[in-house]
Amino acid sequence: MKTLPEDDQSQSSPFHQVVEDAFSRRTVLTGTASAALFTMFGCAITNNGLRGATDKDSNGPSELMQFSPVSLQKATTPANQQWPLISDDYQYDLILPWGDPIDPSGPKFSWPPNPEDQAQQIGIGHDGMWFFPDPKRPNTKGALALNHEFGSSTVIFGKLVPQNLDEARVSQHAHGVSILNIERIGGKWKVVGGNNSRRIHVNTPVEFSGPVANHALLQNPANNMPRGTLNNCAMGHTPWNTYLTCEENWPFYFGSTSSEFEPTEEQKRYNLVGRSFYGWHDFDARFDLQDDGFANESNRFGWVVEIDPWNARQRPVKHTALGRFGHEGATVAVGRHRRVVVYMGDDSGGEHIYKFVGNSDYETTLGRGISPLSDGRLYVARFNDDFTGDWLELSTDVSSLAERFADDAEILTFPRIASKVVGATPMDRPEWIAIAPNQDVYCTLTNNAGRTEPNAANPMAPNIHGHIVRWRDSDDHTGTTFTWDVFTLARDTQHTESLFSSPDGLWADPDGRLFVETDGTQTDGESTINNQLLVMDSNSGEIRRLFTGVSGCEITGLAVTPDRRTMFINIQHPGVEARSPTTGHTFPDLGGTNAIPRDCTVAISRKDGGIVGS
Ligand code: FEO
Ligand code: CA
Ligand code: CA
Repeated sequence: MKTLPEDDQSQSSPFHQVVEDAFSRRTVLTGTASAALFTMFGCAITNNGLRGATDKDSNGPSELMQFSPVSLQKATTPANQQWPLISDDYQYDLILPWGDPIDPSGPKFSWPPNPEDQAQQIGIGHDGMWFFPDPKRPNTKGALALNHEFGSSTVIFGKLVPQNLDEARVSQHAHGVSILNIERIGGKWKVVGGNNSRRIHVNTPVEFSGPVANHALLQNPANNMPRGTLNNCAMGHTPWNTYLTCEENWPFYFGSTSSEFEPTEEQKRYNLVGRSFYGWHDFDARFDLQDDGFANESNRFGWVVEIDPWNARQRPVKHTALGRFGHEGATVAVGRHRRVVVYMGDDSGGEHIYKFVGNSDYETTLGRGISPLSDGRLYVARFNDDFTGDWLELSTDVSSLAERFADDAEILTFPRIASKVVGATPMDRPEWIAIAPNQDVYCTLTNNAGRTEPNAANPMAPNIHGHIVRWRDSDDHTGTTFTWDVFTLARDTQHTESLFSSPDGLWADPDGRLFVETDGTQTDGESTINNQLLVMDSNSGEIRRLFTGVSGCEITGLAVTPDRRTMFINIQHPGVEARSPTTGHTFPDLGGTNAIPRDCTVAISRKDGGIVGS
């Protein structure tokens, strides 16, 4: 975690008053606030009039959440023989493990995989996903678009880094996106065939759209065609039924073969410092930052990528109008005059929250043969101390940006730099964004141990466990102003029934429930506890735990059938020692002969057939 430079720490005083104001205006959250204030100021929480939360939080009278909560699950060491836990009112099945074929006729899992097989198998690092229902059987059949964020080489092929191009290719083909057809047959979800099934990975041909598409910033001397997407984290989906996959920690795939590599200022700003965790650059020059033939290859990553889940012939499209950064997700709203709006977080300490606003009615734009995601403006958020906010435009129409950048394409390729120029608020690692039925927008800020000075919207310094902010935009999402507050801070060990840390995955259902997934190392005061899926009542702030994962895994990704009777979530990188397949967790094949940890999807349903979350 990097420490923020001093000039990133704006809006910090008078801070004590700001925080008290923030929480005293929200009585339902006083318990959370009190725990936070204790941490921040080291004083007795009752002295400032705020009441401490109790464990009754998880057993409150919420009509939205009737299920019995599941208790915390401690991680085990060694991390084996542990199974996920779910509320007694629910059941789950584990499906879609890494390495299973995307079509039943494809190659079966065999470890270590070869590159050709992996390109026809489900990838690793399950993350964001969305279910696109079959029109005839919308609740029992559909296409699932599933992101594969990352996987360690020791799990994928048993070595720290690849030793040859074949091993690099296996790793590359394990990344990207799977488009699968799934169907519930005899009460179980299974992969079925279909001509739309496909794998999109690091070597799949892609196209660019928007202001940077034909710019020199995306051209290489080697004149190689654009290929690939990687580190696909969270997602979005559009009103015209396509999937958006988001490239997050892509800089860590670019390496340098020389210790004399000196990154430019722009490269430093994007963490392109020549240290690759994956070692692809030793065998694939596209990922070598010092190969002159591929000088701009890294500019081809860091985008939001649109995929048609029903048409395997349609190339994925990278939308440059949405900006290039560490994209977590891309949450789409239809705003005033049916303009499309996309909310996006840049998940890095001290980075920002963005939104894209289309120029006109999205259906009219589509009718003109133009993507609504290519015709609009990009903004970045400033959270003011008085709970108002401003969306600051990022274009050469802004004089300070016209002085710094040659054209809009440069701004969109380096919006992290532009955001600092216009004075956006540095946030504590913005992760997922969700829109509630009342049009409030929520964003998880997972943590930021590097924060040394708080600001109003990021009130903890350091922020070890994270929080969730929410805002309401003017003009039905399309305006340039908003009001905001802190919805909740992560819970501490005084409140074990609602304890959580590092909120990450987030979805709001049409009834006002928030589903929050965690990705962090947290303890109950004694032991490390496993990551979890919680349900929160966005009206009352009540919290109830629905599911806990296994040692070392992250819970992430969330999709539902239209009737909300099935929810899909993911278990990513199971096992504390998942980097060592011989000693770590072998989930979901506990101790089996083919014992290698495998990411998988969890299909959750209520035993009584009710809505998931109720
Ligand atoms: Fe891929 Fe920020 O989580
Ligand atoms: Ca995440
Ligand atoms: Ca995370």
